[in-house]
Amino acid sequence: MRIIIEKDYKAMSKKAALIVASQVLLKPKSVLGLATGSTPLGMYRELIEMYKREELDLSGIKTFNLDEYYQLPPDNPQSYYYFMYNNFFNHINIKPENIRLPKGISQDVKRECEEYETAIEKAGGIDLQVLGIGENGHIGFNEPGEHLRVQTQLINLTDETINANSRFFESEDEVPRQAITMGLGSILKARRILLLANGKKKAQAIKKTVSGYLTTKCPASFLQTHPDVTLILDKEAASLLS
Ligand code: F6R
Repeated sequence: MRIIIEKDYKAMSKKAALIVASQVLLKPKSVLGLATGSTPLGMYRELIEMYKREELDLSGIKTFNLDEYYQLPPDNPQSYYYFMYNNFFNHINIKPENIRLPKGISQDVKRECEEYETAIEKAGGIDLQVLGIGENGHIGFNEPGEHLRVQTQLINLTDETINANSRFFESEDEVPRQAITMGLGSILKARRILLLANGKKKAQAIKKTVSGYLTTKCPASFLQTHPDVTLILDKEAASLLS
């Protein structure tokens, strides 16, 4: 694991955007795995700026998002579909047919999950997977527990995650209880992984992520088995690392 510590959120976001941009410059038809949430917002803003300055052409990329809330339609402002278009896709020159997120309102979830895996494979696999991390160590929505899923699945969100994500909703009651997420196996198949974390609240999860032990209590700890993982942290998220 490579660990890069930056002084603050802005510096972390810039560094992350540079790594994504370099991936696309070297391979314009890159397949990117993308995350939602607060953490990558700054990175998306930096990438949009690079595109506007004509330093970056994103017309060849394909993207697969990590997850989507179950039963939230794409036009719901809390859906990850809405988030991605609003914060990134609407501002760059990606081709709409190259964008894929799990379908939250799918009639046949099992089939949707299988088709998602197949679509990633057909695209040639993910070149660079961007990840955030939950305070409980989740990546995608692979929550801590006794077992971890290998492939894309419908999962139940933990109370911790429902509570943490309630900040985006009017009340905790409105947070969906289930989501479709790429599995840990789907994530670990990516050729390169870039995990971003900022703030004190993430420090404990980051410590467990690099601990030298694998545990289903911290799904991100399995990233230690991957040959090409880069963590970009701000000082607070790195504060418990020796
Ligand atoms: C989002 C995702 C989640 C988030 C994590 C951190 O697509 O897969 O794992 O990355 O919950 O969320 P933030 O960045 O809001 O702290």
